Amino acid sequence: MAHTLTDEQRANFARDGWLVLRGALSEAEVASLQVWAAQVADWAFIDGPGLHHFEETDGGTRLARSEDLVPHHPGLRRFICDDAVIAWVGALLDEPAVLYKEKINFKQPGGAGFAPHQDATAYRFVDHHISVMVPVDPSTVDNGCLAFAHGHDRGILPNERGRIAPSVAETLDWRDVEVAPGDVVLFDSYAPHKSGTNRSSASRRALYLTYNALSAGDHRARYYADKEAEFASEGGSFDGERARISVNDDFLGKHAERPRRAPRKPLSDLLDRYKGERALQLYDEEVTELAHGLQCAALARREGASDAAIAAALLHDVGHLLIGDLFPIEQKLEKDWKHEEVGARYLSRWFGPEVTEPVRLHVAAKRYLVAVDPAYFAGLTPSSVRSLEVQGGPMSDAERAAFEALPGFEDAVAVRRWDDTGKVRDLQVPDFDHWEPLLRSLARA
Ligand SMILES: [Fe+2]
Ligand SMILES: [Fe+2]
Repeated sequence: MAHTLTDEQRANFARDGWLVLRGALSEAEVASLQVWAAQVADWAFIDGPGLHHFEETDGGTRLARSEDLVPHHPGLRRFICDDAVIAWVGALLDEPAVLYKEKINFKQPGGAGFAPHQDATAYRFVDHHISVMVPVDPSTVDNGCLAFAHGHDRGILPNERGRIAPSVAETLDWRDVEVAPGDVVLFDSYAPHKSGTNRSSASRRALYLTYNALSAGDHRARYYADKEAEFASEGGSFDGERARISVNDDFLGKHAERPRRAPRKPLSDLLDRYKGERALQLYDEEVTELAHGLQCAALARREGASDAAIAAALLHDVGHLLIGDLFPIEQKLEKDWKHEEVGARYLSRWFGPEVTEPVRLHVAAKRYLVAVDPAYFAGLTPSSVRSLEVQGGPMSDAERAAFEALPGFEDAVAVRRWDDTGKVRDLQVPDFDHWEPLLRSLARA
């Protein structure tokens, strides 16, 4: 679709305070959005980037919102900052637009809606914004679509912490706006709107992108710095009860901490990662990621290790595959994403601590081994000695004692020894399929 709007569309927006563009995005764009939304949801559970908020629903704790995404996701950044969406907003503002903030609301089954409000009460630094709602799933009355009312030209309506006073809200003429993937809704930050609970059995995901006029300045970095500091000090809730996911007190969901375990996925999500391209990338100069894991598993089997220890050996670097798949490449170099933590959290979808803990501890186990085993230290390569210093050097006596008290520490040390050995070019070992029954038998039903 063209990057410009017609005079009629601009006039409708000026009259109503919102504008729906039907079929504005291509099928390919919609397909990308669906993949990206799933990637962002995974970030929430494997210590990836972004700011993530949870809510308590009748079905349990659910991801409600993820935000602060564009610095970490080139595809989303292109879609949000460089393509048609920002151009449409610019057409309505009569000047170039800049991104103010971006989020994905997941509204999973049972996920709460929003009380009647105007965004203008929540957005600091600039007094006028335009937001764009981009549905990832169909958005219907049943699953809590947006409803708008006229009144964007009446300034800030009487409200309490952003919620429009009920006596005023009930006088407004609310219109449900049902949309499908490919449609786009643009709305003014003074347009009164609300949404309902998702009463369906599927998620109602949507991007909400907020922009302001270039002449009003670029405030995105400051907005997120403020928000992160504020949420950290208040624990992400209002009065410890209602989930606080926006600056306004308009979200109707119940507060929830991040769940300790990520939501289930089929085991094929894990198995496919080892059959994909990423697993064939090089682990070091000698072997691929896949070959490295397979050699570690073979070493574990040869030493008579338990099934759980074999699985930990096979999967200990799954974090490398995830970081490669889910996190943008350029981010990998800037920050240590702690592949051991990412991997352990991911594996907790299927496996208990007997598998996840050795994975989580396999990096720390190096500092342990250096402290307790002079022969181990003598065997390190020069580059491994250098990285040891960055990692904190040998463990102190107190660190050692604490490490030995952790569940799974012995298997973690064993995994580390196999890790250091399983790097032989062209070694013949059982292939990945060989271990599939073992993984299936260990995976929680
Ligand atoms: Fe590793
Ligand atoms: Fe490794």
